[in-house]
Amino acid sequence: MTLAALSPFYHWIKAFHVMSVIAWMAGMFYLPRLYVYHCQVPVGSAASELFKVMEHRLLRYIINPAMIVTWLFGILLILTPGVIDWHAGWWHVKFTAVILMSAYHGFLSRWRRDFLHDRNQRSERFYRIANEIPTVLMIVIVIMVIVRPF
Ligand code: HEM
Repeated sequence: MTLAALSPFYHWIKAFHVMSVIAWMAGMFYLPRLYVYHCQVPVGSAASELFKVMEHRLLRYIINPAMIVTWLFGILLILTPGVIDWHAGWWHVKFTAVILMSAYHGFLSRWRRDFLHDRNQRSERFYRIANEIPTVLMIVIVIMVIVRPF
């Protein structure tokens, strides 16, 4: 199903999609970094309480809204006639990577709650490794949607 009324706005919709992607990725790269530093300070310390505020605001006011707007404009692009060839391999790989990126977002939110309630058990090294996941997914997504290798 597509909506012909969207066609005249294709480039505007794509521009807002890419802008919200940039905001989403900025937060997805920064939040696990805060978790790395949060592991370095004692539970209950002033620094730990400050990190809790920073993590909450980053997730609540940047990452969550940016993800919602990325999905909104992404779906509008899907509904724009002629944009998606459902047989194209690149689209299936991109969409799978986007689903994994959204799942990773869910884990970031769950890990934040563990820090909030002083029950984080994961190591600094765990978050350093986790920090690489959105980068790898972003590289796959952008190559797929722009180069379209298959
Ligand atoms: C969240 C769900 C997402 C959906 C449903 C979605 C869907 C789409 C669609 C249908 C297009 C249009 C392709 C075309 O013009 O032919 C597009 C373009 C694009 N998407 Fe997404 N996308 C999503 C997330 C992302 C993410 C997470 C990234 C990057 C990390 C991304 C990067 C891009 C880029 C760079 C373009 C422009 C490509 C171009 O100009 O040719 N998208 N997206």
